[in-house]
Formats: sequence, C-alpha cells, structure tokens
Amino acid sequence: MGVYALTGGATGIGAAIKQQLRDAGHRVIVVDLKDADINADLSTAEGRNSAIAGVRELAAEGLQGLITCAGVASHVPNRALIASVNYFGSVDLVEGLKDLVAQGGGRIVLVSSNSAPMCQQTDYLDALLAGDEKLAGIKAAEITGQEAYSGSKQALARWMRRNTKSLAGAGISINAIAPGYTETPMTQAVANDPAYGDAIKQFLKSIPLGRPGSPADMANMVEFLLSDKASFICGSVLFVDGGHDAMLRPDNF
Ligand SMILES: NC(=O)c1ccc[n+]([C@@H]2O[C@H](COP(=O)([O-])OP(=O)(O)OC[C@H]3O[C@@H](n4cnc5c(N)ncnc54)[C@H](O)[C@@H]3O)[C@@H](O)[C@H]2O)c1
Repeated sequence: MGVYALTGGATGIGAAIKQQLRDAGHRVIVVDLKDADINADLSTAEGRNSAIAGVRELAAEGLQGLITCAGVASHVPNRALIASVNYFGSVDLVEGLKDLVAQGGGRIVLVSSNSAPMCQQTDYLDALLAGDEKLAGIKAAEITGQEAYSGSKQALARWMRRNTKSLAGAGISINAIAPGYTETPMTQAVANDPAYGDAIKQFLKSIPLGRPGSPADMANMVEFLLSDKASFICGSVLFVDGGHDAMLRPDNF
C-alpha cells in the first residue's frame, strides 16, 4: 500500500479522494487550511513551503503519488487568491515534491476544470505561466471572477502539458482531471450567492447526462489515474463532466 499526498482533502472532491484511497488501504497525508495532517495556507509562498516541508517530513521514504485538489471558486472577492491557490498552490507543490514522487510510485494528478478552455485573458494566462504571482494577481483583479477561475485552471493544464515530457523523463506520469459542475461545499457557496443562483439552475439543466457530478465521480477518475490500469495515460486532461465540454465545444479538442 502506498503513501499519497493530497491537498484540499478536508472537504468536497478532496475528501472523497482521501476516503477512497484510505478505504483501499493507502496512507494519505492531507494538506489543507484546517482539519488536515498539515495545516497550511497554499495562497502564500510561505504556506506552500511549509506544506512541502511538512510532507517531506512525513513521507521521507517517497510518495506513491501526489494529488493537488485545493482550490477556491470564482465568487471569492479577492481574485488574486484564485490565481495563488488554484495555480501556484498546485504547481509549487509539484515542483517541491516531484523528487519524492519519482522515488515512490511516480503518479501526479492535478485538478483543473471543464471551464478551463473558456478563458481568453492572454495577459493573465501569460503571467501565470511565467510564474509571476504578483503580476498574475494584478491581472486577476482586472477581470471577472469566472475568468480568473477558468484562467487559473487553463494555465494549470497548460503548465502540465508543457512539463509532461520532463516529468516523464524523471519517471513521473502527470495527468489532470477537468471536473464539470460537482455538488460540493464550493458549488453550494456559489449556488447560495444571489448573483449566481438562478444562472446555476439553468446551467445544471443543460448538462447532457442530466445531473451534476458527485465528489465520488471525480474520486473514481483520480483513483483510476493513480492505478496500474492507467499506466500509459500521461499528460492528459480528462473531462469528467457529464458531456458538457463535448456539448459546448464539439469541434475543438
Ligand atoms: N465543485 C466543482 O463543481 C468543481 C468543478 C471543477 C473543478 N473543481 C475543482 O475541484 C477542487 C475541489 O473543489 P471542491 O468543489 O471540492 O471545493 P471545496 O471548497 O469543497 O474544497 C476545496 C478545498 O480546498 C481547500 N483550500 C481552499 N483554499 C486553500 C488554501 N489557501 N490553502 C489550503 N487549502 C485550501 C479548502 O479548505 C477545501 O478543503 C478545486 O480545485 C476546484 O477548483 C471543482
């Protein structure tokens, strides 16, 4: 049985991933703001460094895999937080722990979003991909929460694809899931917001499979990507969204 590091495992999709891995007999080191093995704030470089140091202390023998699931939604008033947690909170953890992953099982799964293709804010995307957190925060503050969110998830997927070859060369398979609307505390918070509530009801009706996703739907895909059955899947963004992306962008893939 392996040792996994997981960010954002306290609630929602991350909690489902944690439970499935623990049920399968694995040890899961959870990083989150609270109620975790390592309590750390991934929105700051200091918090990310302390998370990395904490995981290194608890998993000196290597990691079977790393799953970066922590994220904040589009409705948070501080748009810079979206860039910092969703993009840098993932990328910095991969950079800081990849040697432990290579030493162990060599699997990384990122959590992007099926909204990722929607952002066209080039300056914001460029700042993220250049690793310029300060500029990304400034650019995020100039756009809508939805753009800041989808951009953070697009940049994450693009960073993964740019780094797939070098990580594979180090013995690591990296993939991302792109969840569609999933019922979690995050979406509940947005659905409760008067500015978004009605739009979300309409949006849910448009999902081809006729229902929102569950945290277990996402955890099932993550567990598959961490398993031997996914041993030739590398650098892929897997949409787990009831057909929404195919419906919205049938000819773009
Ligand atoms: N729910 C959806 O519809 C949906 C769709 C696409 C992608 N996602 C992505 O899935 C992931 C999980 O989302 P969820 O819906 O389970 O949300 P959630 O709010 O239930 O869980 C997010 C977790 O991240 C943690 N987190 C937030 N900020 C943090 C910080 N600064 N430092 C450390 N931890 C922090 C939270 O404490 C929480 O445990 C996120 O990356 C989200 O963007 C969700």
